Amino acid sequence: MPPRVRRTLSLVVPVSCAVLATAGIAAAANGGFTPPSAHSPNAQRINDTYYLIAGFTAAIFLIVEGALVTFIVKYRSRGRDRSLEAAQVHGHTRLELIWTAIPIAIITIIFAFVFYKLPGIADPPRANAADRLHIKIDAHQFYWQFTYPNGAVSIDELHLPVGRVVELTIASEDVAHSWWIPELGGKTDAIPGRVNSTWYQPKSIGTYEGQCAELCGLYHERMLAKAIVTSDADYETWVGTTAQRELGKQEWQGVCAKCHGLAGQGDYGPPLASNSLLTQRAGLEAIVREGRGRMPAVANNWTQAQLHALEAYLKQHVYKGATGGG
Ligand code: CUA
Repeated sequence: MPPRVRRTLSLVVPVSCAVLATAGIAAAANGGFTPPSAHSPNAQRINDTYYLIAGFTAAIFLIVEGALVTFIVKYRSRGRDRSLEAAQVHGHTRLELIWTAIPIAIITIIFAFVFYKLPGIADPPRANAADRLHIKIDAHQFYWQFTYPNGAVSIDELHLPVGRVVELTIASEDVAHSWWIPELGGKTDAIPGRVNSTWYQPKSIGTYEGQCAELCGLYHERMLAKAIVTSDADYETWVGTTAQRELGKQEWQGVCAKCHGLAGQGDYGPPLASNSLLTQRAGLEAIVREGRGRMPAVANNWTQAQLHALEAYLKQHVYKGATGGG
């Protein structure tokens, strides 16, 4: 094999392999290059916009890189003298008009498309009051709290009935967080002193994962969220009875255990399992409502029912008696 051919092959083979590998990753949804498939109309519109822009940028990338490689190969020196100069050209009106008009056309198309899609991303579809559901989201360091129309509360797990229009209002009780379930919609910031809103209309039953998308402190990465979409009947059962039964456990796991360990053994926060404060209503209420030291005021907007649920769960499942020396 002549050396030039071998050199070319040694370059072409690895480059082709790399191109094929990245194309494979890009083609597989969720491979990191493309957004996850949408399960709500607003998320679908965000994805549509993504693919339109990705199409233009991919085409421009291929044209520019293709021209670059073609010119490098076609106009290489071929042993000509280095001091030789190519023909000097000045001005080309038609070419200059084309490279001005095409980018303007591309920008105009993207601009028009985004403004056409935007209302369907921002505004919930019209639906009669019976089909609408309003859920309040409170962001806390480091958990999400959901309050349903009947007053039921859940932590880190948002339950939604399939097909209904769900309006979400999002606020923060401490620092800036950002609510995000990528398969159902875009990010919505949770900002102290301000109420933001978004909406979903979940198209299919399933569990969709998300997490806080704004660095909000030490345990930002543990601020995970799940949207659990079920049938209407399952949702009604859950919100009517199950939520109440699970609240204490969700509060312990979502609010306390992230810092103090699942068994209260101590992690970032001190061990709790043997701390008799867990059984003292007034002391417990004061510390969770107001915080202490590095512990945030995790329960500053809790109802009495929420406090009672936590208290009952602590007594039954976490407190191991004061023998451990805590
Ligand atoms: Cu909350 Cu990051």
